[in-house]
Amino acid sequence: MSSSSSPLGLVLLSILLLFSPVSTTAVRTGKYNKPPPLPLCKAIPGAVGWPSPQSWARLNESTGGRLLQPPPPGAVCHPGQPTYSPAACPAVQAGWSTYDFHQADPISTDWNQWNNDSCLPVPSDRCGGQGYPVYVINATTARHVKLGMDFATRYNVRLVVKSTGHDYIGRSVAPNSLSIWVHHMKGIQTHDSFRPQRCNVNIDSKAVTVAGGVQMMGLYTALNPLNQTVVGGNGRTVSVGGYLTGGGHGLLSARYGLGADQVLEMEVVTPTGDIVTANECQNTDLFWAMRGGGGSTFGILTSATIKTFPSPQIVNLLLGISTTTTTTTTNLTTPSSPLVPAMIAYVLSRFPSLGDRGLSGYSLFSPSPAPNPFDGGATTASGIFMQVALQDSTVAAMTQLWAPVLSHINATWPGVFSAQFVSAVYPSFYAWYQDYYDQSSTGTNNFIVSRLLDAKALAAGGSGGDLGVTAEALRQFSAGEIGTAYLVAGRGVHEARPRGGGNAVCPAWRKAYVHATLDISFPPLNPAARADAIARANAHLEPLRRLAPDSGAYMNEANPEEPDWQHQFWGANYERLVRIKRAVDPDDVLWCTPCVGNERWHEVNGQLCRV
Ligand SMILES: Cc1cc2nc3c(=O)[nH]c(=O)nc-3n(C[C@H](O)[C@H](O)[C@H](O)COP(=O)(O)OP(=O)(O)OC[C@H]3O[C@@H](n4cnc5c(N)ncnc54)[C@H](O)[C@@H]3O)c2cc1C
Ligand SMILES: *[C@@H]1O[C@H](CO)[C@@H](O)[C@H](O)[C@H]1NC(C)=O
Ligand SMILES: *[C@@H]1O[C@H](CO)[C@@H](O)[C@H](O)[C@H]1NC(C)=O
Ligand SMILES: *[C@@H]1O[C@H](CO)[C@@H](O)[C@H](O)[C@H]1NC(C)=O
Ligand SMILES: *[C@@H]1O[C@H](CO)[C@@H](O)[C@H](O)[C@H]1NC(C)=O
Ligand SMILES: *[C@@H]1O[C@H](CO)[C@@H](O)[C@H](O)[C@H]1NC(C)=O
Ligand SMILES: *[C@@H]1O[C@H](CO)[C@@H](O)[C@H](O)[C@H]1NC(C)=O
Repeated sequence: MSSSSSPLGLVLLSILLLFSPVSTTAVRTGKYNKPPPLPLCKAIPGAVGWPSPQSWARLNESTGGRLLQPPPPGAVCHPGQPTYSPAACPAVQAGWSTYDFHQADPISTDWNQWNNDSCLPVPSDRCGGQGYPVYVINATTARHVKLGMDFATRYNVRLVVKSTGHDYIGRSVAPNSLSIWVHHMKGIQTHDSFRPQRCNVNIDSKAVTVAGGVQMMGLYTALNPLNQTVVGGNGRTVSVGGYLTGGGHGLLSARYGLGADQVLEMEVVTPTGDIVTANECQNTDLFWAMRGGGGSTFGILTSATIKTFPSPQIVNLLLGISTTTTTTTTNLTTPSSPLVPAMIAYVLSRFPSLGDRGLSGYSLFSPSPAPNPFDGGATTASGIFMQVALQDSTVAAMTQLWAPVLSHINATWPGVFSAQFVSAVYPSFYAWYQDYYDQSSTGTNNFIVSRLLDAKALAAGGSGGDLGVTAEALRQFSAGEIGTAYLVAGRGVHEARPRGGGNAVCPAWRKAYVHATLDISFPPLNPAARADAIARANAHLEPLRRLAPDSGAYMNEANPEEPDWQHQFWGANYERLVRIKRAVDPDDVLWCTPCVGNERWHEVNGQLCRV
């Protein structure tokens, strides 16, 4: 009883906190001594309340001319658009599938549905700017960020934050908004040890301070000559802004913890326009929330100081265990064949103990025939395809690690599966990364669904559990698609000791070994297809929710319409996160969905209005 009544108490308290200061100000300033009504909606262009051209011009002046009013990037392909250019269009069409193109544009984002397919580089489609921000501040300093935050507050303008625009849940773009573009905030400075500002502790670790728009490749490249590296993402272009605030996993997280666990200090522009330092000694609530509570919610990160580690030597293994054959007794190409999912479930059930012995990495699995990733899709196969690594180890150790697993598979399903086993040694993380960074493409309409899986889920109740349950869940999860099982959590994440005694990442990470994901693609400009994609997303995910009911999902790579996303993304941390959100952003200057504390507003035809 008491646990169910406290969240309600919290909601009431936050409503009181919202209204009491507003009504006192209103009594003082109201012309007829009546409280002026709170604006019901954020301002939109062309309506009363939208800032005048003079106001925008003053903002531009105050930022030294850094205000942009960018056209939709696809407009060059549309006759009739002011920027129409048959000469420029082919490059935009070619760039559309690359992360580099979208990150370099002030408003473009990677997944078309988040700008409402407003202006694809397809001449026969519609083109308008209605899915994109109206103005952008090309920020390079914390002061530029503050000016944008203050302006949005003063004029009741919807505010968004874009770094690269990679976001899978649509937080880095919004219609009728001012966007603060942090992509060009690029400093990197290394330290041999670090003392957080106004703290009486010296952290005996090498560290690096990075500006809010720094990206993985730039960071790894800067640290490589020092033989150092960080817990970072596998995408070359992912920026620290979304990565650190969302949690952040990588090849080294299984050893050292998540990206958010490495943060020693942050410089943040708060929604009230203060440029503050947050660490274990000051602004401690903000420091806790900004490490895992999500991007563009509690403040805008202008720099972060994170731990660095000696770059490990990497033993890489490509291991595919699959079948292309149809045996006489069992038609293995039949999707309902139990053998392939049983083998996949068996391999995943070994991940916790393999992870405890230092293994980490990535895998794809498909119980039904799918293009074989190890030959570039030239043939089809059913099975599991792994790209896994050991740090500071040997090929012999890697071979030994897998020998019992492979012989178990041989003995259990004689003659059914074949294995490809190719190992290689890289002298550094950086050398390994050149071959194995995320080489996916973009520019489509796509959702990701995911679930964090702990040892219990991976072995259907632990040793002695019924692996058939896991096999069936994995089969239903991936049905007709390719699932992933990223071995990026484990001991390092479970035993991480974030500064200040903790951070806001989903508690499910602290038990998880595997982050399992699946892509759901759909055609643009088709509301029915989008609705169907959401339905499919839920259908694929439901078996994993049932397999791991007490777990959660990694918010940066998750179903944007996850039911009860508040607790699926943040677990028991959610209530504290909302309290911090209300304290640091009483007027909801930052708003996104699905994001902490966004419940007081919703989007109606592209306009943000109070619930
Ligand atoms: C190719 C690819 C590979 C990936 N690999 C990994 C991986 O290995 N590990 C992993 O954990 N994730 C990975 N991701 C997911 C990635 O962490 C998220 O997409 C993340 O949100 C990207 O952050 P961003 O700043 O680059 O993107 P953006 O879309 O620009 O921003 C994401 C969110 O953070 C906010 N934000 C950005 N900068 C700031 C800032 N300075 N202050 C406050 N808020 C900010 C935005 O408003 C938005 O809410 C990958 C994504 C892609 C596309
Ligand atoms: C801002 O000012 C610069 C020059 O000072 C100008 O080039 C630019 O067009 C202005 N931006 C807007 C949106 O008017
Ligand atoms: C944004 O600012 C950076 C750094 O000053 C500059 O290099 C870049 O050209 C600017 N981009 C746009 C679109 O103005
Ligand atoms: C980095 O490692 C290489 C190879 O071991 C070594 O030659 C070099 O001196 C190291 N550099 C630093 C800065 O420690
Ligand atoms: C195996 O199943 C697939 C898919 O159901 C079917 O197309 C194929 O004809 C079957 N093969 C045999 C040998 O029965
Ligand atoms: C699996 O069995 C085959 C023979 O069927 C044998 O050649 C191979 O070495 C075995 N592999 C393992 C890892 O036991
Ligand atoms: C998105 O596009 C559809 C048409 O496909 C339109 O009806 C809808 O109003 C648009 N949404 C926004 C927020 O502009």
